[in-house]
Amino acid sequence: MTIVRDPAPDATFALLRDGYEFVSNRAKRFGTDAFETRLTLRPVVCTVGREAAEMFYHSGRFTRQGAMPVTALTLLQDRGSVQALDGEDHRVRKATWMRMAASDEAVEDLSTRFRVCLRDRMAKWSEAPTVLHSQARSALAEAACGWAGVTSDEASLRKRVAELGAMIDGAGSIGFAQVKGQVLRQRGERWARRVMASALKDPTSVPPGSPVRMLAEHRDADGKRLDVPSAAVELLNVLRPVVAVARYVVFAALALHQHPQWRGRLKDDAALVRPFVQEVRRLSPFFPLIGGRVLEPFSWRGRRFDEGDWVVLDIYGTNRDPLVWEEPEVFNPERFISREPNAYAMAPQGAGSYQAGHRCPGERATVALIEEAASALVRVEYEVPPQDLSISLTKMPTLPKSGFVVLGSKTASHAVS
Ligand code: HEM
Repeated sequence: MTIVRDPAPDATFALLRDGYEFVSNRAKRFGTDAFETRLTLRPVVCTVGREAAEMFYHSGRFTRQGAMPVTALTLLQDRGSVQALDGEDHRVRKATWMRMAASDEAVEDLSTRFRVCLRDRMAKWSEAPTVLHSQARSALAEAACGWAGVTSDEASLRKRVAELGAMIDGAGSIGFAQVKGQVLRQRGERWARRVMASALKDPTSVPPGSPVRMLAEHRDADGKRLDVPSAAVELLNVLRPVVAVARYVVFAALALHQHPQWRGRLKDDAALVRPFVQEVRRLSPFFPLIGGRVLEPFSWRGRRFDEGDWVVLDIYGTNRDPLVWEEPEVFNPERFISREPNAYAMAPQGAGSYQAGHRCPGERATVALIEEAASALVRVEYEVPPQDLSISLTKMPTLPKSGFVVLGSKTASHAVS
């Protein structure tokens, strides 16, 4: 395939109009998996699919600096985070991240806490409507704070849920949600700085093995400890994405609602939970695109990519690459039975190597958390009343409009067996 030039002078309006489907719609129209265009008047190469993911996640090739809109950057990873680093600096910080978020102990601790927090809430489901997205967020925030080593009473937990939730909701917006996200981020950052300043002063005041302790003891490639602002940014990067998993919890509930045969199958056979969760991750719209700026020049598809060139990988479209996935739009967890996803064929949380690239260190934890939620959901009885479950593909990140309302069943006990 070759890289085609988009005849439109600028495609920003098309991106706003087509949302998640922007790259794949155009790529399909041009009969290719890569095209050159302009976004906000700046030249960019948009790519999609497994081969593009292999090109994009070739280690050391791209930096994330200058590759994301500032509005999204400042609500998500932000300056001072591991994602803003490259080379040896990235390698050293990422090693701590992998120990913090991807070790067996970390995944086990976080998912056990979430199991308890979610089941506590589900046990209280009544005939009154409950919005699953809000409940999942609060259960995940409570679990994340406990795991991270942050003490939180009910009032402070409410504040964290509001701040972390607003950052996620506002990340792809340029309107009110963006402003709300920025205001609440400031408040969250002040709190995180207080937590990290005290932990950096005395790391032993925080439970050993917890992310706050590991951040407080971490030394960067230059041998220095993190400064307070960077440590605070990383603490928010521990907590916020855990809360973001609430969107996947809702998409898992939606899949159970739309494919009810999977309720019984998951209940009867725990080995099917992982394939079910992988298919939910493959098909749910979350991050639409990931951008990079070329660090080391290379050639691909007969084109030379020079330092600073801007390239975007379509995550949403890659998860549906018809060259990889049979009937890509069909929800079929069976495709993952006895088969883990290939490192480049599916990229909801990045692709390739965790250690040598920017792939998400929280991916294992994310899978485990959605597994907890799916296992709990098939073990309680609830009703899904009529509601607006439509999903806008121009709102990023998106969600079924109602947030997934459930009613506890009149007769059943909601304690999860
Ligand atoms: C809703 C679930 C999640 C989604 C959709 C998600 C998605 C992503 C994506 C797309 C990237 C960017 C990869 C790149 O730059 O190439 C990323 C990176 C990252 N994620 Fe996640 N993530 C999730 C959960 C988590 C969790 C639970 C954590 C930590 C507890 C986490 C921490 C990070 C960090 C620190 C990075 C930067 C890694 C680096 O630059 O090396 N994420 N994530």
